[in-house]
Amino acid sequence: MPFDFDTVPDRRHTGSLKWDKYQGRDILPLWVADMDFLSPPAVIDALRARAEHGIYGYTAPTDEAAQAVVDYLRQQYGYAIKPEWIVWSHGLVPALSIACRAYAKEGEGVLVCTPVYPPMLSCPVNMSRRLIPVPLKITGEKWEFDWPALEKSVTSDTRVFILCSPHNPVGRAWTRAELAQVAQFCAKHNLVLVSDEIHCDLVIDDGVKHTVTASLGPEVEARTVTQMAASKTYNLPGLACAFSVIADKKLRAAFVQAAAGLVTEVNAFGYAGTIAAFQKGEPWRRELIAYLRGNRDLLYDFVKTRLPQLKLVPMQATYLAWLDARALGVDNLQKFFEDAGVGLSPGHIFGDAGRGFVRLNFGCPRATLVEALKRMEKAVSARKAK
Ligand SMILES: Cc1ncc(COP(=O)(O)O)c(C=O)c1O
Repeated sequence: MPFDFDTVPDRRHTGSLKWDKYQGRDILPLWVADMDFLSPPAVIDALRARAEHGIYGYTAPTDEAAQAVVDYLRQQYGYAIKPEWIVWSHGLVPALSIACRAYAKEGEGVLVCTPVYPPMLSCPVNMSRRLIPVPLKITGEKWEFDWPALEKSVTSDTRVFILCSPHNPVGRAWTRAELAQVAQFCAKHNLVLVSDEIHCDLVIDDGVKHTVTASLGPEVEARTVTQMAASKTYNLPGLACAFSVIADKKLRAAFVQAAAGLVTEVNAFGYAGTIAAFQKGEPWRRELIAYLRGNRDLLYDFVKTRLPQLKLVPMQATYLAWLDARALGVDNLQKFFEDAGVGLSPGHIFGDAGRGFVRLNFGCPRATLVEALKRMEKAVSARKAK
């Protein structure tokens, strides 16, 4: 069944974080990570059915929800888990904070590689843990972990390594070998490995496969907290439903304890959407990936031929492009592109390593992407001409 990614309803005045930011201004919002696509029809049907029940009382995770996750992980990634390993939460950001709280004491260290999804920088700090940011490095045309820098930065009171896999914003889908090296590093320094894999279904490079970190082996699994959701892939982050998979009993108990009173019942629609997405969303997801690949290739081509002042290291996953705009010499890149009619995420919020970059969300109809790129081209050319 063909799905339509080109026509979407108007999102203005729907309380959309993404669109309402620029209410009344002619700015195309290509910032926060949700997509301007309808969710899969199967998800919409499931939510309609749940709404029609008419009673929205406190909702406990059902066996069906757990089984949907178990089946999905086995089918997509060959990773076998037990239903009781799953801990639900209303989003992954709370789960990141909970993990910091559970596995490090106040003042103890939490390592994260930058540039990175901003809450990975703020959650440890909000929990009064010590953030240890370590920049990734670019080798040729590839973002990589900087192992000497990581070894230099880790301290005897570092307790947690937050991994972003695939990595937002640089778009790397880490290889098995790279993940094994992360796991080895965590074992050597006795760190809990919090592996945020929310973008796992969004690998867009042909022939590249996502590996669930915890699936590398029992020792890795025993120190890993896998954090996932259907929200990014199936475009339902507003339903606020995510889960952590924690095989180790002690780690799971510590997580549940740290969540007490902070994470309460997840909403009924979150479960309904997640179940439908995982059970019935695959045909839609496959078409989504093909569409995103088209957008990404168009973006590469446009940047190369018409925006050569910007640099783009090839990305393998996510619908987020990490553009190096340092050559423009603009202080406030966000304002520069907003003035041109395009709303992007400024690089500095992803950590110091992100200064001079902008993140562009290409999870939108192709026509929107083309219009945004033309606006950017016009602004960059006008600057050059000055
Ligand atoms: C790496 C990563 N983790 C977590 C989230 C957000 O999770 P949630 O909306 O479930 O809190 C995002 C959203 O963009 C993300 O990119």
